Amino acid sequence: MTERTFSIIKPNAVAAGAVGQILDAMLADGFRIIGLKLVCMSRNEAEKFYAVHRGKPFYDRLVTFMTSGPSVVLVLEREDAVAGLRRLAGATDPAKAAEGTLRRRFGENVTRNAVHASDSVENAREEAGRFFDEREIVVARYAPPAVEAEDGAC
Ligand code: CMP
Repeated sequence: MTERTFSIIKPNAVAAGAVGQILDAMLADGFRIIGLKLVCMSRNEAEKFYAVHRGKPFYDRLVTFMTSGPSVVLVLEREDAVAGLRRLAGATDPAKAAEGTLRRRFGENVTRNAVHASDSVENAREEAGRFFDEREIVVARYAPPAVEAEDGAC
């Protein structure tokens, strides 16, 4: 079934100049990019985003890392998008991630693991809603019209 998922290209991967390669891998895996922006997460945003991990030993490190530089937030669409993106991302710990996965290729350690991939359709919707307005998610005429549309492509 066609699903939407949510992803973050984390600050270490943005700083390393890996955004293009990560987007290429997502597109090659059949994802359509229907929302995309560069954001600098505030401490408050990162704390809320990772609230489920509050109190865990890695929480402060994670929040500090996620606010250390720009990230790219993405809404992606595909058949089985949630499971598919988690497969492409690989295991949370890059050292344990399968060869060819994004975390294996671009992750440095379990905190600086290059990408986030939502774990359910419901969480994807909730997480995307933290960064995108409805109008910023573009689906309707994603495929370019055969003839230029007079009222634009979106
Ligand atoms: P992410 O997919 O963004 O979701 C939660 C994040 O918490 C995860 O990626 C890791 O970056 C981080 N995380 C999860 N478990 C650990 C851990 N044991 N030590 C450090 N960071 C962790």
